[in-house]
Amino acid sequence: MPSFQSDALVFFGATGDLAYKQIFPSIQGLIRDEGLDVPIIGVAKSGWSLDQLKARAKDSLEHHGGIDEKAFRKMTELLRYVDGDYANAATFAAVRKELGAAKSPLHYLAIPPSLFGVAAEGLAKSGCAENARVVIEKPFGHDLASARDLNHILRQYFPEESIFRIDHYLGKEPVQNILYTRFANPVFEPIWNRTYVRSIQITMAENFGVQDRGRFYDEAGTIRDVVQNHMLQVLANLTMDPPTGEDHEATRDQKASLLKAVRPLTPASVVRGQYNGYKSVMGVAAGSTTETFVAVKLFIDTWRWADVPVYIRAGKELPVTATEVIVEFKRPPRETFGEIVPGTSSHMRMRVSPDITIALGVRVKLPGERMIGNDVELMLQRQAGADEPPYQRLLGDAMRGIGDLFARQDLIDAQWRIVEPVLGNVTPLYTYERGTWGPEEANQLIGTDGPWINPQVSDAKH
Ligand code: BG6
Repeated sequence: MPSFQSDALVFFGATGDLAYKQIFPSIQGLIRDEGLDVPIIGVAKSGWSLDQLKARAKDSLEHHGGIDEKAFRKMTELLRYVDGDYANAATFAAVRKELGAAKSPLHYLAIPPSLFGVAAEGLAKSGCAENARVVIEKPFGHDLASARDLNHILRQYFPEESIFRIDHYLGKEPVQNILYTRFANPVFEPIWNRTYVRSIQITMAENFGVQDRGRFYDEAGTIRDVVQNHMLQVLANLTMDPPTGEDHEATRDQKASLLKAVRPLTPASVVRGQYNGYKSVMGVAAGSTTETFVAVKLFIDTWRWADVPVYIRAGKELPVTATEVIVEFKRPPRETFGEIVPGTSSHMRMRVSPDITIALGVRVKLPGERMIGNDVELMLQRQAGADEPPYQRLLGDAMRGIGDLFARQDLIDAQWRIVEPVLGNVTPLYTYERGTWGPEEANQLIGTDGPWINPQVSDAKH
């Protein structure tokens, strides 16, 4: 089916946090960079006027990316506002009215997951779902069963190709670059397997806490918040087989095969931590046992990756903010020069944020008579950051009906299947101090496959 451009953008949750931080800046970017010129309808239940929404948009842009006068003026011309309860048919009738002549709108549900079902039904009953696309914010479900239920609800009203499940990591330039670098260079593929790779580490560190998201975060925790989705998507790009054939689903098919081959986590392969002070964050339950840090060890049961340990670590209030992948290669089969090399060996380092780096680490000889060396990195790419914010890229793709960078339902199911056995309180929770790399138990988890390689960032806060 040829894809068409959506001719209206409706965003539910218009007065909320996501709209403020991501959606307004993305809309301005699409107007500025791609000439987006369709009705833009914000929907919320806040008792606001259109002028209040416009003021909110202005404030959002002032704090997130800056105002582009021309694009912002256009945005305010295109902006409409519908105020109402999502359980009320009148709300959707008002949306239909604002859509005017638009025949194929895109609906962005930036609302709590508990409201997805009622909103989807409201769209369908009012005629707003016809020929429409729908973008769903994460979390897509709370576990495997709820993800399937949610999908079931959506599929009653929208065909699969019209459902766009956002994982903003997929819209990140350096995450796509992992795939690109691997498959645009035949030199990497022969060594990208158990014969040459000793271990893989993925670290997503944030040097801030849960801030004003206490209530949301306390129901999620790190495993649901970033491991089930972002980290496993990065892992899939890093370890999947090359896409085959002409099918435009080829990449997502290979990702799905990879994720289905990841062995579900067991309690012994997980260390959870909570930073000291988390329980006093507003919205967090008094005796909360939600994790703000997690380290996991996992295996991929394929010929390519059998027995190669993969370590993933993510957390809040760590020493730096950075996401980085390290693929560590094996040592030579004999230490020809009798060197005792602690820790690192040769590696490939891919930094996703804050800067974008791809570096190949090798050992070279130090000048002099002795056959001893040091570790150096060949920089294949280094840039300050990506130009296009991930949400802008993804919203633009969804408006054009391009689903490649969105999560398909079988991928979501596979991701939940991996983390499902360790959700909740099946593993102990250790306390760690803010500004540290999590509980000591994480070091025990990695053991002789370690140490953890901490991303080096110059402007660390702590
Ligand atoms: C979100 C999580 O999905 O990703 C947040 O809910 C996290 O907890 C954020 O901070 C990180 O995204 P980024 O793009 O800043 O790395």
